[in-house]
Amino acid sequence: MLNSKIELVLNNKLISIKNLDTNITVLNFLRNEKNLTGTKEGCASGDCGACTAVVGELKKNKIEYKSINTCITFLYTLNGKQLVTIEYLGNRSLHPVQKAMVESDGSQCGFCTPGIVMSMYCMYENKVKSTNDNIDKYLSGNLCRCTGYIPIKKSIRNMYNYKKNKSDQKNIISLLKNIKRNDIMIQNNESRFFVHYNLKGLIKDYQKNNNSYLLVGGTDLALEVTKKRNSLKNIFYLGSNKDLNFINIKKNKIHIGSATPISDIIPKLDKIYPTFSQMFERYGSEQIRNSASLGGNIGSASPIGDSLPVLIALNSQIVIQGKKQRTVSLDDYFVSYRKTKLKKNELIKEIIIPINKKNILKCYKISKRIDDDISSVFMAINANIKNNTFKSIKIVCGGMAEIPKIAKSTQEYLLNKKFNQENINEAKNIIAQEFTPIDDMRASKEYRMKISQNLLERFLNEQNRLNTVVY
Ligand SMILES: Cc1cc2nc3c(=O)[nH]c(=O)nc-3n(C[C@H](O)[C@H](O)[C@H](O)COP(=O)(O)OP(=O)(O)OC[C@H]3O[C@@H](n4cnc5c(N)ncnc54)[C@H](O)[C@@H]3O)c2cc1C
Ligand code: FES
Ligand code: FES
Repeated sequence: MLNSKIELVLNNKLISIKNLDTNITVLNFLRNEKNLTGTKEGCASGDCGACTAVVGELKKNKIEYKSINTCITFLYTLNGKQLVTIEYLGNRSLHPVQKAMVESDGSQCGFCTPGIVMSMYCMYENKVKSTNDNIDKYLSGNLCRCTGYIPIKKSIRNMYNYKKNKSDQKNIISLLKNIKRNDIMIQNNESRFFVHYNLKGLIKDYQKNNNSYLLVGGTDLALEVTKKRNSLKNIFYLGSNKDLNFINIKKNKIHIGSATPISDIIPKLDKIYPTFSQMFERYGSEQIRNSASLGGNIGSASPIGDSLPVLIALNSQIVIQGKKQRTVSLDDYFVSYRKTKLKKNELIKEIIIPINKKNILKCYKISKRIDDDISSVFMAINANIKNNTFKSIKIVCGGMAEIPKIAKSTQEYLLNKKFNQENINEAKNIIAQEFTPIDDMRASKEYRMKISQNLLERFLNEQNRLNTVVY
């Protein structure tokens, strides 16, 4: 029997929800149903951070906090979690992050400040050191277009100087522990929202329902509702499914559950493929990385999805689960614009990445901004160079065609050739012939072509300068 409601802790109170629209976002719930209007709406597409709130989850008897964009998070994903909003911080006296904002003149405009304070709160409660890198990371999803970041950053550096009031965390932990983690189906008119905690239950219900959408972070799917004003009929939320949330590193392979958030993947990947994890640090913003999954990136099948060229370059496979299970190579998984080999009522269960420590992996993300921006061009190169000769080479580009695409002719030319300027010059000519890049508001096709040629040159120069870490 499926539960017909969700329970969550809203700030420090246990609440249960059942009758609201299955497409309602956390932001609309807070503002329209709870009158908690401290959380603002700016862009409604995950770009500005005005709507930032914090989600707490119990991990080993402690609460782990993650900042989220409430504008693109569906409410019914929150069963068993704590949702912390700006109203909670100042309910008795100012929280240390608020005191620091006041004392260091960090509070600028009323629109962005609540979201900025929530990102700081997340950092404070997780006891993250206020180094310059960490500050940039935690603020990567909060845009300020007025006075600038200097007083905000100063506030973050000062926030640990202020003492916290007595916390009600013990009480919140016991409330969270008592929430049932049983499978859920919320029905509202003709629409349904499913939450499953294991694969067996998910597959059983997913096979029975046509016209369904798979959801993890919603950083892509939610825009159908917030921007295109579509209504999604049956939603299957995978983000709480334990069988889809894991990272197992075996001898020569990494296995990643399709619903594992990018922010959980980064530290694990760092030890094996540092350039891949450095690329992920530029993936969206902190809020996006806390929600978005690898399965969702492959599921979106966008020609500019950042993980796709890297996964293909590394010869990765995906495990697809329908009534039966099958394993396919990502090389020929993408068929045409946003079309893949995934069949009806199938889902991606797991991603398998081979570990090859002898190869060089480079991930080049070219975008207009460092943070929170989609790539204009992406190039991943996985090469084995011995005696200055290419023993193997795979080059995969994003943003250069309607799907992420292997530069087959270029890599065929380079194989077994010397790694020198002359051969790279010829490879630049070949890559220009084998792609007809897209032309859109992110970049012109001429720019994309030039960049892809330049990236081959950059690869040569970097290797010649040995051990330079660029991404
Ligand atoms: C502000 C912002 C910044 C962004 N920045 C980047 C960026 O830098 N790089 C980048 O590549 N992308 C970026 N994106 C796009 C998006 O975040 C990614 O594509 C993300 O990985 C999607 O993951 P998700 O879990 O949120 O997917 P969702 O939105 O939940 O789902 C996306 C699609 O995948 C399908 N899907 C989900 N899980 C599965 C599964 N297990 N099996 C099959 N299909 C599935 C869904 O049905 C849906 O069609 C950005 C988006 C926003 C809003
Ligand atoms: S309103 Fe802009 S990120 Fe949510
Ligand atoms: S704080 Fe809002 S625009 Fe600068």
